[in-house]
Amino acid sequence: MSAKKIDGKAFAATVRKKVAAHVVRIVEEHDITPGLAVVLVGEDPASQVYVRSKGKQTTEVGMKSFEHKLAADTAEADLLALIDRLNNDAQVHGILVQLPLPSHLNENLVINSISPAKDVDGFHISNVGLLGTGQKSMVPCTPLGCLMMLRDHHESISGMNAVIVGRSNIVGKPMAQLLLGDSCTVTIAHSRTKNLPEVVRRADIVVAAVGRPEMILGDWIKEGATVIDVGINRIAAPEKGEGKTRLVGDIHYESVAAVAGAVTPVPGGVGPMTIACLLANTLTACCRIHGLAEPKGLTA
Ligand code: GUN
Repeated sequence: MSAKKIDGKAFAATVRKKVAAHVVRIVEEHDITPGLAVVLVGEDPASQVYVRSKGKQTTEVGMKSFEHKLAADTAEADLLALIDRLNNDAQVHGILVQLPLPSHLNENLVINSISPAKDVDGFHISNVGLLGTGQKSMVPCTPLGCLMMLRDHHESISGMNAVIVGRSNIVGKPMAQLLLGDSCTVTIAHSRTKNLPEVVRRADIVVAAVGRPEMILGDWIKEGATVIDVGINRIAAPEKGEGKTRLVGDIHYESVAAVAGAVTPVPGGVGPMTIACLLANTLTACCRIHGLAEPKGLTA
């Protein structure tokens, strides 16, 4: 079998189009423009790239973008004061503090100081609890994007065996909650799971989010399974020339694609969906804050 390649880039474009259309409507009908504030502390180059991309895409869908760049040695009290201002700013409906934070800052304290209603990352402990108990919440962007792709590819995922490889708070755990919500039978496996290939081989749906380049191989995959690759790893690519690198996921793409029914590529799979879902979450937060009808198909 040769797997269908799930085109996350194209799907993300359709999500952005839906978001943009809904933004036009609420601007016209209610004179409200959704706004997203992104806070970056320090100069981590990868984070700078993400933040630039987020700002650009936010304005492209008609929302307001507010960027706050703080020095790497910013005091915790100053960061908390900024978040407090954003929590109380009527123009801001979504707040994202780019992670990782410099080590002198308490990440949990910072995240939990964001108003849960504006927590478009879905990392606030209230949103984690709401999601875990099946209540309406803000949902982390990467797992939300994975869920959207799975729902789009399958008529129904109810009753399917889903194996998530990776137990992070950002992807693995919320992904499990979302798949349970769609009535999958869910296993969270990780790098220490015994007989990991055997566990993965039982899955109709595999979500690879371990952060280890090309770890999951084709002979771990059940014939016809759907494989979602969340990993983004930069590895050396001597075949491209000295010092060159390339991006790979957590799956060994070629061998997996030879067995799977469908698979997401890296780049061009989950990555573009994450930012599209951030925009969708900002719109959802704005609608909830103002008591407006939420966009359909853009939430869990
Ligand atoms: N850093 C890497 N991914 C993310 C994310 O999804 N949200 C935030 N806030 N920081 C990140």
